[in-house]
Amino acid sequence: MEIVPLRPGFGAELRGVTLSDVASDDDAYKAVRAAFEEYSVLVFRGQEVTDDIQLAFSRRFGPPEVTKVGSMGTGSHFVILSTIGPDGKVVPADHRQAMRAKANQLWHTDSSFKRVPALTSILSARTIPEHGGETEFVSMRLAFEKLDEGMQKKLENSFAWHSYAHSRGQIAPGLATPEEQAALPPVCWRMVWKNPVNGRGAVYLASHAYAVEGMDAAAGKKLIDELTAAATAPGTSYLHQWKQGDVVMWDNRATMHRGRPWPAHEARLMIRTTISATEADGVANMGLPSPQAAE
Ligand code: OGA
Ligand code: MN
Repeated sequence: MEIVPLRPGFGAELRGVTLSDVASDDDAYKAVRAAFEEYSVLVFRGQEVTDDIQLAFSRRFGPPEVTKVGSMGTGSHFVILSTIGPDGKVVPADHRQAMRAKANQLWHTDSSFKRVPALTSILSARTIPEHGGETEFVSMRLAFEKLDEGMQKKLENSFAWHSYAHSRGQIAPGLATPEEQAALPPVCWRMVWKNPVNGRGAVYLASHAYAVEGMDAAAGKKLIDELTAAATAPGTSYLHQWKQGDVVMWDNRATMHRGRPWPAHEARLMIRTTISATEADGVANMGLPSPQAAE
């Protein structure tokens, strides 16, 4: 396996390894896992991808999420990001499927609004538009390391509230349905996720974050907005331009990503698998300390 860094500080293309190798071979998994911990965004090109191959690869990294209510693919291990309607035609721009694609164009990390946040997401391109439709990534580790020590300490001991209704509400009121809102009450996470393998901290934020515990609403929102702007400043990102056979996986603990727009009449279909974070991934340190734990 050859590791080709994509930009200074994060991101790498892995050559000479297939998804099936990782699924079936412990050494291949270990090499890819080490690269994942180090580079945060991994690109595999020229892959043979089926749902089964993608899921077998994904399972190596931990338990696959079951897709939430209200999403295409609900109840399965696949998130279907598609602008193709049931009749096979591209949906209009105001259709729920198109609005959801828009919500993915806000900087975020996946599943920070869930009771169990995600370790990694694995995304494969199945139908690629001719123009646009890239996926863009930033490193929240580099963002953390750029902060002064006082701010780093403050964030390590701060907690932000995340909610699916909040991020969807930025696109259209009511885009998160009552059913989704009932299934996904707000959750609160430490604002720094420390990688247990290498000890590096990353700012843990997303479009889902809307308040900071113990700060007044406006001040908390301002802090979130300023951290997001600094983390996503021009020149900091890796822009992935999709080709057939591409698979990209990212560390949801240490990156943010967003989809980029494409012409509304062009079809786009992507399939995502998402792996829940476990104790070994540092999740136990992320929740608000409970009153019992403090005693
Ligand atoms: C995702 C996501 C953006 C895109 O799959 O989690 O945010 O470019 N995708 O499709
Ligand atoms: Mn996403």
